[in-house]
Amino acid sequence: MRKDVSVMWYRIGLIVVAAVGVCALPAGAAKKEKLVVGFSQVGAESAWRTAETESIRNEAAKRGVELKFADAQGKQENQVQALRSFIAQHVDAIILAPKVETGWESVLKDARRAKIPVILVDRGINVSDNMLYTTLIASDFVAEGRMAGEWLAKKMDGKGNIVELQGTPGAAPAIDRQKGFAEIIAKFPDMKIIKSQTGDFNRAKGKETMEAFIKADGKNINALYAHNDDMALGAIQAIEEAGMKPGTDITIVSIDGVKGAFEAMVDGKLNCTVECNPLLGPAAFDAVEAALDGKALEKKTIVKDSIFDQSQAAGVIGSRQY
Ligand code: AHR
Repeated sequence: MRKDVSVMWYRIGLIVVAAVGVCALPAGAAKKEKLVVGFSQVGAESAWRTAETESIRNEAAKRGVELKFADAQGKQENQVQALRSFIAQHVDAIILAPKVETGWESVLKDARRAKIPVILVDRGINVSDNMLYTTLIASDFVAEGRMAGEWLAKKMDGKGNIVELQGTPGAAPAIDRQKGFAEIIAKFPDMKIIKSQTGDFNRAKGKETMEAFIKADGKNINALYAHNDDMALGAIQAIEEAGMKPGTDITIVSIDGVKGAFEAMVDGKLNCTVECNPLLGPAAFDAVEAALDGKALEKKTIVKDSIFDQSQAAGVIGSRQY
């Protein structure tokens, strides 16, 4: 008798579990499974990049996505290795912030073979077949270079010697920001780019390269164009250490719009920054979800940027998000 009762309860239990299981699996339940996304980041060379990483991490947490994060410490080979490891782990999608434009063909072919969508954020790449990635979400770096050039030409009345701190060699923003800026400066015969060298998008290298510029050209330098704010901030230190006044003796325009740049503008040491929005997390995960839903995506989404100079800095610094 005792045995019969327990068998009965066991059977009732099975029916209840089965019923609950069915109720908990409504139509489209597959979408509710936890997504696993791999994110390969270049490194942490600038405040901009740290803000981009945080934006992607925060958005993943907000959406309940498991994020596998790989910091490549500035090395493309580490990024390729991270991608291979994501593929081996069968992630649902990959977000890639590529260091440079070239060298991605082979690993992206592997991702395609594994049917893993690859979302590029912030920097573009050069591949023979653009079906090797799903979409790119980035700023228009050529336009940013042009904005910086136009602002500087106006400020300098179309005259002056400029030194340029380039970003990482081979990186899309370094190539395009140089191009856009040069295009504008070429229209002003009395404006010359007298030196142009890499500062690798970081503060220490920006300072070091600016020291070399000052050593070679000293008081001949009227303006500095830096491909990002971190290099400009390093250069500001070099200018001060050389006994000159940044923002006065040397007019400085850079790109990114990070908090540190606004602080330097409020202090009168930086003259202008062109904003490049790093808060790409929401758009990146919208793209991941759309790709996994089989929706067609634009090949490129351009993030809108603005420009801020010293006169606006104090008014907007409090509302800056990064
Ligand atoms: O690709 C975007 C650039 O890379 C940002 O301007 C810079 O700060 C970063 O490291």
